[in-house]
Parts: sequence; C-alpha cells; structure tokens
Amino acid sequence: MRVETQRYTERFGSVRLNEVQKDLELDSGRAGAAHPLENIAVLKIVEEASKDFEEKMAIAIPIKNEKLKLFEGVISGIPHDCLIIVVSNSQTKRVDRFRMERDALNQYCNFTRRSALIIHQKDPVLAEALAKSGYASLLGEDGLVKDGKAEGMIVAILLASLIKKSYIGFIDADNYFPGSVWEYVKCYAAGFSLAKSPYSMVRILWHYKPKVSEGMFFRKLGRVSEVTNKHINSLISFNTGFETEIIRTANAGEHAMSLRLAELLPYATGYAVETQELVSIFEEFGGVLPLAQSTVAKRGVEIFQFETRNPHLHEDRGSTEHLENDMLLPSLSAIYHSPLCDKTIKENIIKELVSRGILKEKGKPLRPRQYKPPKEVDLKKFQEVMPENLTPYSALAED
Ligand code: GDD
Ligand code: MG
Repeated sequence: MRVETQRYTERFGSVRLNEVQKDLELDSGRAGAAHPLENIAVLKIVEEASKDFEEKMAIAIPIKNEKLKLFEGVISGIPHDCLIIVVSNSQTKRVDRFRMERDALNQYCNFTRRSALIIHQKDPVLAEALAKSGYASLLGEDGLVKDGKAEGMIVAILLASLIKKSYIGFIDADNYFPGSVWEYVKCYAAGFSLAKSPYSMVRILWHYKPKVSEGMFFRKLGRVSEVTNKHINSLISFNTGFETEIIRTANAGEHAMSLRLAELLPYATGYAVETQELVSIFEEFGGVLPLAQSTVAKRGVEIFQFETRNPHLHEDRGSTEHLENDMLLPSLSAIYHSPLCDKTIKENIIKELVSRGILKEKGKPLRPRQYKPPKEVDLKKFQEVMPENLTPYSALAED
C-alpha cells in the first residue's frame, strides 16, 4: 500500500502524536526502485514488510449476537498470516449463536488452512483463570466475565499475550465490507512498520461513514467522534500550552497496539474504552504527572492515525439517543475524570452534556469503571488453567 508520510508530529511529553496519514493506494505494486517522491511525501509499504507484522499480529473480534453473514465477511477480510481471536458474548441458550460462530470459524479455518481461537466471554474456565491470576475485577456477581466489548478486548489481550503475539488489532464483527477489514489490518501493519518505539498504537479514521436514510449519505466523521476529539484536544492543549487539533480518532473502535503497550494500560468499560486509552497514555507518559514507567518514557509512545479508502458501514443500531447517551457520556467522562483535566475543560464538558440533554443541570458524569493493566495479571497462573480447558465453550479452530 502507499500512504502519506508523517508530515507532522506533535509531542506531549514522551508521546508522539502523528497527524492523520491518508491511505493513497491500496496496492502499491512490486517492491522495486523507489519513486523520487518516496519517503518524502509518500511511503510505500511493501507487501513483504506488511506480512512481517501481520504474522506477529492477533486480530481480536469482539462479537455479540451479530448476523452470521457479517461475521463470516469480517473473518474473510483478515489477512491470512494474522491469528484471529474471537471473543464472543453471543447467546448460547435457545438458538446457540456461539456454536454457529464457532462452526463457521472452524469451517473457514479448515478451508483456508489457517488458525484461530474462539472463546466465550462467559466460559467458566476463563473466569476461573482470571480469578486465579489476580484479575477477579473483570468478573461480575455471577462469577463470570462481565458483559461488554471492553471486557472482551481485555480477554483478547490476555490470550494474545499467552500466545506470544507482538501486536493486537481490534475489529468489530458487524462490519459490512470485508475489504475495509483487510484495509484496517494493512494500516495497522503500516503503522507498526513506521514505529520507532516498541510502544505503539494505530488508530483508524474512516474516509466515510455512510448512513442509509434517503439514499446513501457519505458522512466524514461520526457526530460523537467530533465532540470527543474536540475535548481531548483541549486536554492536550491545556497541558502543553499549545492549541491543537491533532487527535481525530478519540473513539476509534478499530485500532491496534503493540502488546507491550496494550499490557501496560488500564482499561475503561463500555464506550469509554478507546478514549480512556489515549487519556491513560497522556497521564502515564505525557510528563505532566509523575512518570509511571521511566523505561517506557525513554523509548516514547507513538500514536499513528490512518484514514482508510474504504467507507465504514456497520450495523445501524438506531437512534441519536443511543449514540449520544451510550457513547458520548462515557467518552467525555473518561476525559473529565483525568487528573490532567482542568476546571475549564470540566466546565465545557458539563456544558456539552447538559446542552445535549445527556446530563441534568448541576450533574456530574460518573467515572467509567476501570480495569487494571493486563501486565498485573499473573500470566503463568492464567495459563495453568487455560490451555487444556479450551472446551466446551471455546475451541482452537485448528487441526
Ligand atoms: N465480546 C463481546 N462482548 N463483544 C461485544 C459485546 C460484549 O458484551 N457487546 C458488543 N460486542 C461486539 C459487537 O458484536 C460488535 O462486534 C462490537 O463489539 C462493537 O459493538 P457495537 O454495538 O457494534 O458498537 P458500536 O457500533 O455502537 O460502536 C463501535 O464504534 C465506536 C466508535 O465509533 C465500537 O467499536 C465502539 O467501541 C466504538 O467506540
Ligand atoms: Mg457497530
């Protein structure tokens, strides 16, 4: 593929924030003599370089009761060398949707000669492994892993660590275009190939996010993302003293991290998860608060943002109310409760939420539930319970 070079990088302490880079060409041809503009304005990521990263990457797909056809499309878009990790919270009673997902994945892996891992989020063995390894906070009152995509993501990070992958990318299961799934992974690999630090993150910005109403309308940005971006940029601006609009992916569900970074971060539940990742990186490595990990700060954390060619079309679950209440409130709460957030930003967040009717006058957003970094889990103990017990809820879809 061919992408724009990093034309501009802002720094927040030891965090390097790269401006959005556009994907210019999905296929940039054979590796060969460099074009005169190569590495100045554009970067060619040769297929072989991309593959080097893909084979070290796990792609985690969180799924809960999605149409099977969509799931099949998503897995078919993931480049062959990536390991697929599916964390499902789909129903198992009445119609066993989890079994359907497992069967579809098994069949796909057999035909395409590749491997994948699928696990149910409510697998009691998984819960036992988490309890024994010091991660009981992920469990609910019933003793099983709590509901939520974020909780599924944490499980996937632990599994990827166990399997010794170096990178993990997240892709939702409700995506209509396998081609866009393929492009996300190519962007992940491109970002990691450009990273100079082992602590790196790649976030996806969609070229368009079409809405089907009367005909098709190709929107550039989601409404929620625009608002979250504005407030997270204020957070950076306040702390660096320089106004910025660098972050354009505060709510990026499609994103990837080096495992070394993923293991270090605390995670928030629900729609706060993606915003909280950024906030945590700024808190820990921005240099304003005491540095959490000086060795990491030395190498720096690098954040890439890529704009894809493919539009993003996923399941439309409905109303503005869903979007704003479910998404905006937790995202802005993650910013609000950061020690980096000053009085004025807090006031602006409250104003934003009140003016949208999401928060009552004089209300205060609740702090999203936080989970400790996966690094604090005793992976050895986790492994002792996990491997021989990957059934019956889960199966290694490999022969
Ligand atoms: N494992 C697991 N457990 N997966 C879940 C759960 C759960 O409890 N709940 C939802 N999922 C899966 C869905 O099946 C889907 O594949 C993915 O998580 C995202 O859920 P959606 O319901 O499609 O989320 P969304 O479209 O509203 O929001 C997406 O985009 C936002 C940014 O625009 C998500 O990626 C958000 O995380 C993101 O903030
Ligand atoms: Mg969705």
